[in-house]
Amino acid sequence: TDLDSFIAGLPKAELHLHIEGSLEPELMFELAQRNGVEIPYESVEDVRAAYAFTRLQDFLDIYYAGANVLRTRQDFHDMAMAYFERAAQDGVVHAEIMFDPQTHTDRGIPFAEVIEGLLSAMAEAEAKHGMTSQLILSFLRHLSEEAAFETLAMAEPWLDRITAVGLDSSELGHPPVKFAQVLAAAREKGLKITLHAGEEGPPEYVYQALDLIEADRIDHGNRALEDPVLTQRLAEMGMTLTVCPLSNLKLCVIDDIAQHPIDRMLQAGLKATLNSDDPAYFGGYIADNYRAVADARGLTRDDLVTIARNSFTGSFLPADAIARHM
Ligand code: ADE
Ligand code: ZN
Repeated sequence: TDLDSFIAGLPKAELHLHIEGSLEPELMFELAQRNGVEIPYESVEDVRAAYAFTRLQDFLDIYYAGANVLRTRQDFHDMAMAYFERAAQDGVVHAEIMFDPQTHTDRGIPFAEVIEGLLSAMAEAEAKHGMTSQLILSFLRHLSEEAAFETLAMAEPWLDRITAVGLDSSELGHPPVKFAQVLAAAREKGLKITLHAGEEGPPEYVYQALDLIEADRIDHGNRALEDPVLTQRLAEMGMTLTVCPLSNLKLCVIDDIAQHPIDRMLQAGLKATLNSDDPAYFGGYIADNYRAVADARGLTRDDLVTIARNSFTGSFLPADAIARHM
């Protein structure tokens, strides 16, 4: 339709995408076969049927199990390339992709295999589609801060190829303060910081992200809306929120897409962006996320343009590159 082509034609950056969450069931089967790995599913339909979640942890259990088919740098390359191809169709011209090294190094996969596979796909996406991309190394917050420090040490040879660090995985019970030291150490090394806060966790975790971590960006941030003082503060400081509507729906952060708060966020002056989070698991890529809230909340084309512009000004690109996209 008209609106679909408008959305796909709108140049945009994707700022919240877990590359392991882009692993489609078809590729999961292919990699399982290529690597001789057993998976607990009979068919692609069987896999999709398992993707019924009531909270973040239900999803995470299945997502970490799915990542078990990833073994070689070729696997990481193929997964990332499939994402870039799909994102290019959706008008993505710049992507800041998160990866979870601990999900792989804890299974004995060398850090080098993971990152070299991703980097070669990033180079290919730029050559083929002119799409730029950056890497965000996410620490798994259900593991210890010590384990995060070990991961940061493994990343040392590639620090010039990594833009930021973040926190993902189980939010409740694992507040940002648990990782204050390792995030500060990463910042000392010149990395930016973006972290999941206020997806399932309370506004207090968003306060910690600001006051204790001095985060450059907040992933999700939905629950900040429960606190008007916090909302106003985020708006006044121009903090970018990487919002993920289809994820919010599938993980029951909202009960119905018709309740998505994106328009309230914009009205409150929040710098919100739209992103796909884990598109293979949540039923849509970035344009599907734009479309879903445009339909459900009646966003205008001007709103969608504002959101796309926010994605560039909220990116970790240097100022001259941002200016070229505006
Ligand atoms: N890992 C992958 N997707 C995630 C999400 N939405 N929240 C927390 N951790 C994640
Ligand atoms: Zn996420």
